[in-house]
Amino acid sequence: MAATHAAFFFYIWGIVEDQLAALESEVKNRATAARSLEELEALRTAILGRKGGRLSNIMSGVGKIAKADRAEFGRRANEAKTRIEAILDEAQARLSDADLQSQLEKRYDVTFPGTPPRLGSIHILRRTLDDVADFFRSRGFAIVMGPEVETEYFNFEAMNIPADHPSRDAMDTFYLARENGPKGPLPQDPLLQTPGATAPLLRTHTSPMQVRAMLEYPPPIAVLVPGKTYRRDALDARHTFNFHQFEGLQVDRGITFGHLKGFVSDLCRHLYGKTRRTRFRPSYFQFTEPSAEVDVSCPVCDGGGCRTCGGAGWLEMGGSGMVHPNVLRAAGYDPEAYTGWAFGLGIERIAMVRHGIDDIRLFTENDPAFLEQFA
Ligand code: PHE
Repeated sequence: MAATHAAFFFYIWGIVEDQLAALESEVKNRATAARSLEELEALRTAILGRKGGRLSNIMSGVGKIAKADRAEFGRRANEAKTRIEAILDEAQARLSDADLQSQLEKRYDVTFPGTPPRLGSIHILRRTLDDVADFFRSRGFAIVMGPEVETEYFNFEAMNIPADHPSRDAMDTFYLARENGPKGPLPQDPLLQTPGATAPLLRTHTSPMQVRAMLEYPPPIAVLVPGKTYRRDALDARHTFNFHQFEGLQVDRGITFGHLKGFVSDLCRHLYGKTRRTRFRPSYFQFTEPSAEVDVSCPVCDGGGCRTCGGAGWLEMGGSGMVHPNVLRAAGYDPEAYTGWAFGLGIERIAMVRHGIDDIRLFTENDPAFLEQFA
């Protein structure tokens, strides 16, 4: 019984040992012949792969061997496996060295022209604003910013525009929905948690910052307020629902309309050229008294009348005036002691006139052909 068993074992083992030896020498040949790491990796999987690998297939013959002999069988098979792995590892080391060597031997022509990346540029509206800001800064003005989501109080009431005043409709305001309906809490922005704060809206002008700035700083004050403003205007070549304004404000003892005229005239010469003239037309705003519309002589025709100015010879720049006593009062300034001027101009408007841009929609269409002209 024992003899039969032993004979059977050696018979089976003889076959397996032949198979292992054949496999080992095949691996040696193929590993030496392998020309790439990928090729070698494919060989490794074909031989050692857990499922369907050739060595695994041979080793699964262990089932045919009597239990008592399996340990010996396993030991020899594992030795063969270790040798095969060593052969593969050695080939791998050789191929990675060769790979590195060939990378190092590659020659690059560093003088060959590359593909230049496409560069962005500063937007023309930002450039225009930067220019305006330089002018204000050179005259000692501080630049302050305010919230685009405003309250009715600062956008209207504090600006001397009472609740039933028709100009609230004229402003074509975007009102914002409140959480939990019209009586719900205001958005969490601390700037909106002010006494008297009512419905949130998108500010229709930068003027609400007049009062916010004066509440923040005691007199005298001189500030520039640039920013986005919103109105429910239908979009066309001249109108948009989102545009930019900047507000100038100066309040001190003894400020007169003369200071306003001097400042705005200088600004227009800075923006449009030394020979520009300015003109103040009587107008009406609730938050200034007296109020004036600012015109500048047309930089294209110099007053003669052309397409840019629609034949008028003058271009409308924006609104201005002496700060209304009620506005000073809302800010806690004493209107008996202090006076001031304010004006609000459109940034798009300035850029359009300076660069002969005839459609306001171009600013937001992000067409590189347009934008790159000002890069
Ligand atoms: N806020 C006004 C507007 O948007 C402009 C203005 C500003 C007028 C300051 C007078 C003083 O039309």
